[in-house]
Amino acid sequence: METKKAFTTDRLEKYQTYIESLYGAKSSMSKEDFVSKTSWKDFVPVVDDDAARFLQFVLQMKKPKKILEIGMSIGFSTTSMALTAQEYGGKITTIEFDRTACKQARSNFVRSGVDDVIQIMFGDARQVVPDFSSGSFDFIFQDADKRLYPGLLKDCIRILKPGGVFIADDTLFPVMDLDDRWNDQIESIRIFNRLVADSSELDSTLLPIGDGMIVAIKK
Ligand SMILES: C[S@@+](CC[C@H](N)C(=O)[O-])C[C@H]1O[C@@H](n2cnc3c(N)ncnc32)[C@H](O)[C@@H]1O
Repeated sequence: METKKAFTTDRLEKYQTYIESLYGAKSSMSKEDFVSKTSWKDFVPVVDDDAARFLQFVLQMKKPKKILEIGMSIGFSTTSMALTAQEYGGKITTIEFDRTACKQARSNFVRSGVDDVIQIMFGDARQVVPDFSSGSFDFIFQDADKRLYPGLLKDCIRILKPGGVFIADDTLFPVMDLDDRWNDQIESIRIFNRLVADSSELDSTLLPIGDGMIVAIKK
């Protein structure tokens, strides 16, 4: 179920159409197909195809063995990453606190043949993330409730190994044409982006992929 307005800038739509015409057919999976095979439809939106491809691309480049995802929903991004991670022996831990989403994601993982690569941690990321030891992960994808991003950033940096990659989705919210009911999420992203950009522990940039992906490397 898509709840937010589309990013309507003509220029970006043109970019996306062109990019899809080049790479859409080559993708190992598509959001439309994944969602059509998912029986539960009342899920929180998942990343777009270009964002899923970008996650796979970074995994292919860095080959991180220990991957953490925060916010799984029905597991589209998790499955995309798992298809790449299983080629080189990477494992994914993914956190989700919605029981129905967990159940649906689990069956999606089995259908996609990636369940052996993924460990679902059912629970609230605000409790789960601080419990990980320092340097536990080579790669972290943050995609939970945007209001969590600023508060979890310190722990994300702590549990990432030096040289590890941190990616957060939806980081162009502050410049998108969103409904007023998204205001608190937009404000959280504004604070989060500033913290990441100014962090002395990270080298980062923000890419206009999907709804914006901040990409950082821990120094
Ligand atoms: C944007 S969706 C994730 C989409 C998924 N990464 C994908 O692209 O396929 C965000 C998910 O985070 C979950 N979530 C939000 N706050 C959470 C929290 N505090 N702890 C665990 N999960 C949370 C929501 O239930 C929702 O399913």
